[in-house]
Amino acid sequence: MRGRASPVLPRLAVVREGSTELLVPAASVTAKAPETAPAFFNPAARVNRDVSVAVARVTRPATFLDALAGTGARGVRVAREAGPVEVTMVEFNRVSLEIARRNARRNRVASRCVEVREEANAYLHSRFGRLERFGAVDVDPFGTPAPFVQGALSAAADGGVVSLTATDTATLCGVFPSVAFRRYGARVAKSESPHEAGIRVLLGFCARVGGTVDTAISPVAAHSTLHYMRVYFRVHRGAGRSDRALGELGYVSRCASCHEAKVSPGPSETCERCGGKASPIGPQWVGPLVEGGVASGAARECEEAGWDGAGEALASLAGVDGLPPFGYSMEAVTSRERVSSVRFQRVVEALEATGRAAMRQPFGSQGLKTDASYPEVVAAVREAGR
Ligand SMILES: C[S@@+](CC[C@H](N)C(=O)[O-])C[C@H]1O[C@@H](n2cnc3c(N)ncnc32)[C@H](O)[C@@H]1O
Ligand SMILES: [Zn+2]
Repeated sequence: MRGRASPVLPRLAVVREGSTELLVPAASVTAKAPETAPAFFNPAARVNRDVSVAVARVTRPATFLDALAGTGARGVRVAREAGPVEVTMVEFNRVSLEIARRNARRNRVASRCVEVREEANAYLHSRFGRLERFGAVDVDPFGTPAPFVQGALSAAADGGVVSLTATDTATLCGVFPSVAFRRYGARVAKSESPHEAGIRVLLGFCARVGGTVDTAISPVAAHSTLHYMRVYFRVHRGAGRSDRALGELGYVSRCASCHEAKVSPGPSETCERCGGKASPIGPQWVGPLVEGGVASGAARECEEAGWDGAGEALASLAGVDGLPPFGYSMEAVTSRERVSSVRFQRVVEALEATGRAAMRQPFGSQGLKTDASYPEVVAAVREAGR
């Protein structure tokens, strides 16, 4: 490490993820919440890494940047499990980086892994304009990814995939509007599809930051698991493409009186249907969320590997882009309309019987996504409750 002696490491344990054996701080395996010092590893983020490996297997980047690498769990797994990819792991914590280095050696991928001790944003921005940008860039910070988005976009090759974690889910889901406005420049509100709204607000922010560097985004996949959200999108260079991507931004407004939701280019405070007060959420990405071949291919990879959580998260995206960019909460609908609980599948069938499309919300299992109006949803719920 720049000629300095190796740092003192904490007691290490071995955990297995996929076909990779990871050395991790022993305390992180038993602790209720993972400690950030002296080095970080979160066993609960395994699904998050399974999806990364599966997406990399399908998109086949030649180079992968793990920009906030921690102890190297993601970078080393990608190097070992996703084909002949060159992995760069950036981390400013010396102890974590030394463990990442050992993990690369232990899994016999050291010749394809480079460890860089650097501040992540400094490294990401150092790629700006360079030919050797990365085919995939992953940003997995504590909390909001907002400060890293412009750098990640700059470090990704044209057509490359950027993936981001956000753990400030409450903020993105509408609990802290002033924080969301400060971090993401978006209006948020509580809603019946909070996780979908959060993912779309995050993507909307990425599209607008893309605009600052004449770069478009096009989403590949997204999931909301445990305490975090993940988005995957491709990066495309060019002012024209960036302008067109910004055309996918809009607002979703939901009426507090008649519960109808609608999409509009600007914020709409009044319900068109009943004149009631509506809460707009946006700007958010109201365009497609999925690059079909990648999401379904990655779902298959997970299924074959037996990675159930990741496979379900990816498979549940099928059909999402045929429906409006919001959903309804079955719990809210049944309690508001005083219908005793109903079987979800029967509601879907009742909607389909009237020619509507409907599916389970992929971002929050209690939700329904449909192209039906709110009164039609209520009618289907009543029908299913009979
Ligand atoms: C959530 S952890 C990463 C976990 C890792 N990706 C994994 O899957 O196990 C975030 C890591 O980023 C490092 N970090 C935070 N801010 C950083 C920065 N500005 N530059 C470099 N590293 C940073 C922390 O030391 C920590 O190890
Ligand atoms: Zn209304």
